[in-house]
Amino acid sequence: MESKPTNRNLVAAKAAKKDEFYTQYVDIQKEVEAYLEFAPDTFRGKVVYCNCDDPFESNFFKYFAANFNKLGLKKLITTSYDGSPIAGAQLTFGEYDEGNGKRQRPKAIAVEIKEVKDFNGDGATGIEDVEFFLKQNPHTRTPLAGGGDFRSAECIKLLKQADIVVTNPPFSLFREYVAQLVEHRKKFLIIGNVQALTYKEIFPLIKADKLWMGVTIHSGDREFRVPDHYPLNAAGWRVDENGVKYIRVKGVRWYTNLDHGRRHQELPLMTMEDNLRFSKHKEINGEGGL
Ligand SMILES: C[S@@+](CC[C@H](N)C(=O)[O-])C[C@H]1O[C@@H](n2cnc3c(N)ncnc32)[C@H](O)[C@@H]1O
Repeated sequence: MESKPTNRNLVAAKAAKKDEFYTQYVDIQKEVEAYLEFAPDTFRGKVVYCNCDDPFESNFFKYFAANFNKLGLKKLITTSYDGSPIAGAQLTFGEYDEGNGKRQRPKAIAVEIKEVKDFNGDGATGIEDVEFFLKQNPHTRTPLAGGGDFRSAECIKLLKQADIVVTNPPFSLFREYVAQLVEHRKKFLIIGNVQALTYKEIFPLIKADKLWMGVTIHSGDREFRVPDHYPLNAAGWRVDENGVKYIRVKGVRWYTNLDHGRRHQELPLMTMEDNLRFSKHKEINGEGGL
């Protein structure tokens, strides 16, 4: 089942404070890898913090955990949010069994990973090792009394440890979210709506060269997973064979203050002569004017 995309989805989501849009792994992978192409050590020796991310549903956690050694991370910190309606309800990161065959709906937790080794002894290191490690080491999960709100004292304490914050924050709190990152002088790579460019809190940061667009999303739409209970009354949705719901959203952009190659590419400027030649060419070929 499918229908056409629109960015009304995001606008409506923001208005309704429907913040549960889960980023696809491939979108995170493409963006992060674009920074590595420009500067392979972008994440080396760094503490990465995903502060709006249930480790059991977030592809941000999965991506950084699976690529911990390749990126050369020093530490990966993830905090989940109590208010997330799908926390503990929908698993994509293996089945985390609390003993009764089902994962208990968790309170907000912080998970800190300091190394990824071949914990399960299968001769390779990867996401399975992280999963194995988390199961074997329940102490790596710390309950968060403040509910995992990115503004809570506990999360700010973790933020202070972080070098780079990477996530898709709640659309309804985007301004506050960015303000906090700037206040704490953090490097970041986050997803937002293209309309954020015009916010009075965001535009000055762009002007001051303290924030810019990321590398990989400039147009078109992207697909996000949404919770089962989200109504699919907007355009651009799909339900997969397992009944998992996705919506396609236009106007999504990466925002960052990490340097990347695209920032250094010269824009091909057209001279007046080029312009005239181009118009003439179009006229002759019946393609209409500029
Ligand atoms: C747009 S979703 C993205 C989730 C995840 N980062 C991803 O990309 O798959 C934003 C997440 O932030 C959570 N959230 C909402 N308000 C929050 C807050 N005040 N502090 C921390 N997380 C919050 C929501 O529950 C939701 O899971």
